[in-house]
Amino acid sequence: MGYSSICLFIFFALFLGHVFVKLEASQHVYRTLQTCQSFSSSITSQPYRTGYHFQPPSSWMNDPNGPMIYKGIYHFFYQYKLWDTVVWGHSTSTDMVNWTPHDAAIYPSQPFDANSCWSGSVTILPGGNPAVLYTGIDAGNKQVQNLAVPKNLSDPYLKEWIKPPENPLMVPADQIDPGSFRDPTTAWIGPDKIWRVIIGSKINDTGLAILYRSKDFVNWTKAEQSLYSTNQSGMWECPDFFPVSTKSPKGVDTSVIGPNIKHVLKVSLSNYQQDYYTIGTYNITTDTYIAEEGSFDDNSGLRYDYGKFYGSKTFFDSAKNRRILWGWINESSTRSDNLKKGWAGLQATPRNLWLDKSGRQLMQWPISEIEKLRGNQVKWPAKLLERGSMVGITGITAAQADVEISFQTTAFEKAEVLDSIWTNPQFLCPFGLLVLASNGLQEYTAVFFRIFKGQDRHIVLMCSDQSRSSINDDNDKTSYGAFLDLDPVHEKLSIRSLIDRSIVESFGGGGKACITARIYPTLAIHDKAHLYAFNNGTEKVNITSLRAWSMKKAQIN
Ligand code: FRU
Repeated sequence: MGYSSICLFIFFALFLGHVFVKLEASQHVYRTLQTCQSFSSSITSQPYRTGYHFQPPSSWMNDPNGPMIYKGIYHFFYQYKLWDTVVWGHSTSTDMVNWTPHDAAIYPSQPFDANSCWSGSVTILPGGNPAVLYTGIDAGNKQVQNLAVPKNLSDPYLKEWIKPPENPLMVPADQIDPGSFRDPTTAWIGPDKIWRVIIGSKINDTGLAILYRSKDFVNWTKAEQSLYSTNQSGMWECPDFFPVSTKSPKGVDTSVIGPNIKHVLKVSLSNYQQDYYTIGTYNITTDTYIAEEGSFDDNSGLRYDYGKFYGSKTFFDSAKNRRILWGWINESSTRSDNLKKGWAGLQATPRNLWLDKSGRQLMQWPISEIEKLRGNQVKWPAKLLERGSMVGITGITAAQADVEISFQTTAFEKAEVLDSIWTNPQFLCPFGLLVLASNGLQEYTAVFFRIFKGQDRHIVLMCSDQSRSSINDDNDKTSYGAFLDLDPVHEKLSIRSLIDRSIVESFGGGGKACITARIYPTLAIHDKAHLYAFNNGTEKVNITSLRAWSMKKAQIN
């Protein structure tokens, strides 16, 4: 079989989910499959292949794993599915915008990870050496936690990793189902010189973050009490636990505790395929975390992103003192369409993450490095949007763009009262952007605001309505909505949308709410895609500022 047909065969084997051939866990097979170049060249011309979102050349990608910076190089690992096996794909970058691919970093090679290398995290040990904790699916299909360390610390690309003989370091305790014990976080160390890490799990339907402690990062002991648990929340995947400053938007190292610090616990709820977080207080003496009152720890709680975004992970970027969030954008298309296009899964733009001044929620904003892809710019002076009007934003590549728009409206007394039984965003579409719109508006995605009267203040709803995003009805076109914690009488109503062919990542209110849409237009592609500002309401609206840019293509893998 030639190289490209091997790649094709592998691809079909992967998507059909069958084991056609019993694979030897050999380094050669797992490490080199990532670069199926001849296959990927036809893939890259597809309309849904993005211009500046991270994706491998082909096949299935899911969770971000172990992002970090080492010797000035950003490393990004990801769950990469080859055959019926998952390995850690690996790419490096100096700016988190352009990426160079490497061979798989961690792949099945030992009994303790014979059947896959699932998600995990990097911890930077004192002295600056990185250590990976990841979940191995062992020869008996049990989930166990393993350690991998770089083979050669003088190689800034850390291409080779070794697995110490002490592995597995953590195995499911008696009452833990061996199929529900995974995804170690970045570990943190206390003033007592003891390392802590949490592992996602569940007992019956109670989701939990099991806590382990270690003096040397190799011998780990399970704590009697979990760090946190929530009844009826199901399996917790990919937990993330980190401190945020209450005084500054700068990020802090994962081991920082003390005054002016709150903690964030994020869990990926497997039952909902959505990421939720709470803000709370962590006591390192008792190793307990208490979510703040009003910070809900079930699926009514806060989310990083109210669209497609799962299995996320943060890391502390010590070069720029910021905390960066990565998240997986899954497909909304059918399995057979995924098969046809030859790949599935993308990563959201890395986002800077910090605690809002209110202390009630996190804020997010695309890393500033992404702005270097900005090309042609359009800038409008303030403009009135009459009721029922739509204005084209022209002069940029609408299929691949970065748009920042702010609105102001004054007709607050006419706002409708929020109906508690309101569930359907499609019909409530007053003003915002129409992105990836076709000429005759057969296709478009509306990203918009609507303002309601609440009890003692106005309520701002931000929506991303995908119901008309494609004339292909096979796709999941669920619409998403989020409430924005802002006062529209005194604050700007702003949207920033990163539009990238089949992804629209929208940030409302300067990063108070984010919604990512995964869409598949068939008419609004390439130069047939258009961008508009619209006002469907009964009152006029001011556009107070608009800046939009064509986005260049990044070098990705
Ligand atoms: C989340 C997840 C993790 C697991 C990985 C396997 O998407 O199910 O819990 O480690 O994906 O690829």
